[in-house]
Amino acid sequence: MNATPNTVTVIRKAKFAAAHFLRLPEISDEENFQRFGPSSNPLAHGHNYEIEVSVQGPVRPETGMVMNLKDLKVILNEEVVGPLDFKNLNLQVEYFQNRLTTLENISQLLWDRLHPRMAGLGLTLTGLKVLESDDLFVEYYGGTDQLP
Ligand code: NI
Repeated sequence: MNATPNTVTVIRKAKFAAAHFLRLPEISDEENFQRFGPSSNPLAHGHNYEIEVSVQGPVRPETGMVMNLKDLKVILNEEVVGPLDFKNLNLQVEYFQNRLTTLENISQLLWDRLHPRMAGLGLTLTGLKVLESDDLFVEYYGGTDQLP
């Protein structure tokens, strides 16, 4: 990450709980099980997901902050993870009507919600981590065009 002078990255975490399953409609139950294991069960299973967002911007002299972290918490809870909380991602979230509910796809959905929201505040979302558990998570930085 290239930080310009007086630019700071703030990191905030948020949580949501959701159910999901991994299953392709065009292949058989057996093939789904071979590919996705027990996660292919269409009755679903749940995770307590955590996200970690990195927001970069200039430190505003009048506040000494990049942004009010309380405001960021409200945005995350109401607009980013809130719409997924206590949902079945496959059945209740339109984005996943034709996508697998993988961590990779979840990270892109959350990025697509948060990146423009931060840009509207003059800030840059520089990283997003989505954790399914302590030892399984993805990181997303907005696509290949932003890789070094
Ligand atoms: Ni799962």
